[in-house]
Amino acid sequence: MSRFESELLRRLGEIQSANLDRHLRRLDSPQQPGIQTGERAFQNFSSNDYLGFANEPSIKAAATEAVAKFGAGSGSSRLICGSLAPHHELEEAIATFKAQPAALSFSSGYTAALGTITALVTKADVIILDKLSHACTIDAARLSGATLRVFAHNDVEDLERLLSWARQRSRDNKVLIVTESVFSMDGDVAPLPQIADLKDKYEAWLMVDEAHATGLYGENLRGLAEAVGVSSRVEIQMGTLGKALGSAGGFICGARPLIDLLVNRARTFIFSTAPVPAACAAATAAIQLLQTSTGKLRRKALFDRVNQVCTRLPALAKPVPSPILPVIIGDEAAAVAAAGALRERGYFIPAIRYPSVPRGRARLRLTMSASHTTGEVQSLLDVLNTLGINGAAVTPAPPSA
Ligand SMILES: Cc1ncc(COP(=O)(O)O)c(C=O)c1O
Repeated sequence: MSRFESELLRRLGEIQSANLDRHLRRLDSPQQPGIQTGERAFQNFSSNDYLGFANEPSIKAAATEAVAKFGAGSGSSRLICGSLAPHHELEEAIATFKAQPAALSFSSGYTAALGTITALVTKADVIILDKLSHACTIDAARLSGATLRVFAHNDVEDLERLLSWARQRSRDNKVLIVTESVFSMDGDVAPLPQIADLKDKYEAWLMVDEAHATGLYGENLRGLAEAVGVSSRVEIQMGTLGKALGSAGGFICGARPLIDLLVNRARTFIFSTAPVPAACAAATAAIQLLQTSTGKLRRKALFDRVNQVCTRLPALAKPVPSPILPVIIGDEAAAVAAAGALRERGYFIPAIRYPSVPRGRARLRLTMSASHTTGEVQSLLDVLNTLGINGAAVTPAPPSA
């Protein structure tokens, strides 16, 4: 064995001994509640396909048509010669859906965050992030070279303390506040109106990642910012196309100059082959379907399932319901064991551990979809009951670092 391989095996050994090793589990079926891995069938309660759009016939048909008309690949980056009609149609659909002047799509939410934050702030500026922000915004903030500060999760007093510090440091430099609206691993929501007030008071900019809220909240399903009436106050609105919208990709929407600047400065947009036509067409079809009565019916079905779980497991209920229902286990090995016990009973709910969540906060991230039937949810609840999993944390969590 080469020295290179033995070094990698040593590192893998460290990951394993901390119970943090991860393995891919191949699925031989589409993304849906009933999945197949080889010969075994599982009930899937871990996907972000909240509205059941990933396997929706009309959305699949749009993808197939796009392949027939525009081919399998995009051929180059958008600025070279890959800016195909499906990319433009998607961006028009996003801008209309979100009621924003303009939108730009990226190949993923991760690259949307990375390209946008690094395009907007420089070493001279400050970024203030919620402590539980997703890796894509943390990585983007680090890469930007800006001074990075983290406020305690959803703690507006702590945010104000940091904003005041940033403004004392410099009146002229940019200060960017970044938060998710619905947090990916906890399913709780940010206090967006208070955050928007603070960003006005301290003349900061606000970027809200609506990855887990797009399609689920607000009168027009635009996201949590719409639901709480602050859409017009969020300068940089981010979303993903691979969760409730059932396709793949990410987007930024906002003022026209924001989008024009990103086209000129977002390196993950400029230096990357454009998303494939099928993904764009699927996302466009999903946005259109969302805006029909189907969107609202699916949303209702989804939140009915969430309610069904929370009625039986009140420890999982939150003031603002979301389809993300984390069962905090705490200890990493115990979370892996719980996921294994569920798998033995035919349930696919992997253990989520560091670095996706803080150390000692391992969990089963239970997610609901509009495609689950009430009977399927009932069976899950019975199995959780049999295993003694009631939603309350089973090991004390250490204070967050
Ligand atoms: C909150 C949040 N933002 C951004 C992303 C990245 O989106 P994508 O999967 O499209 O790269 C994710 C994905 O897991 C997420 O949970």
